[in-house]
Amino acid sequence: MGMLHVILITLLCCSLAHCRGACAEPDSDTEAVAGQGFKLGCLSCKRRSEVQATATVEWHFRGKGEADFYRIYTYTEEGQNVESDNFMDRIDWNGSKRSNDIQDASIYLLNVTFNDSGTYQCFFNRILFYDNYEYSTVISKVVHLTVVAKATRGTASIVSEVMMYVSIIGLQVWLLIEMIYCYRKISAAGEEALREAANAEYLAIASEGKDNCAGVQVGE
Ligand SMILES: *[C@@H]1O[C@H](CO)[C@@H](O)[C@H](O)[C@H]1NC(C)=O
Ligand SMILES: *[C@@H]1O[C@H](CO)[C@@H](O)[C@H](O)[C@H]1NC(C)=O
Ligand SMILES: *[C@@H]1O[C@H](CO)[C@@H](O)[C@H](O)[C@H]1NC(C)=O
Repeated sequence: MGMLHVILITLLCCSLAHCRGACAEPDSDTEAVAGQGFKLGCLSCKRRSEVQATATVEWHFRGKGEADFYRIYTYTEEGQNVESDNFMDRIDWNGSKRSNDIQDASIYLLNVTFNDSGTYQCFFNRILFYDNYEYSTVISKVVHLTVVAKATRGTASIVSEVMMYVSIIGLQVWLLIEMIYCYRKISAAGEEALREAANAEYLAIASEGKDNCAGVQVGE
């Protein structure tokens, strides 16, 4: 149910964004699985889409428990450059393609290790070209990444699944008890009827009892 919600909302947001030709800035995922790839998301929409602009991108990283950030990656017109041995050959560009006017600076981390846990910061160094002047801005976003051995699920989703099983099993047990109770009532009523009444009467009670357990209780 929760998943469906997320999908519906995502679809709605995407279609709205497309209708307005807008650029959306969703937050990056923050949980990576060791040994797999992970996309570090970073988006910065240009507020004035009609204004020409160029941007370069830098990614900085501070490992969990470390004091300082250091630069791990840059992306410019000339190309990309991984600037840290810890990430050598492990970063691919996942951002805007074939454009200097970068609005998506996402990168893809290959073969994630536990040492990749920490804080990532992306910087857009953007220059906007107005008629008579240039305007530079720096926009930054932060992603806190946790590396786990296996994908974990949200507590809410686990709780709702457990509740689902509990209620299904509960209903089944209740149904079974009800059936046994009714069956006993019916057979008890049947024996009584055999002893006391004529054959026709017995059949009437028994068939009534099968249709409706309460009817037998009244018949006693
Ligand atoms: C991101 O880059 C990785 C590695 O090059 C690639 O496998 C993946 O398809 C890319 N994803 C997107 C959305 O471009
Ligand atoms: C990433 O892992 C794959 C499969 O385990 C391996 O073939 C590849 O060489 C690794 N790449 C890097 C850069 O460590
Ligand atoms: C992780 O960091 C520790 C300590 O700096 C280092 O000894 C270890 O080799 C690193 N592991 C990987 C997979 O890079």
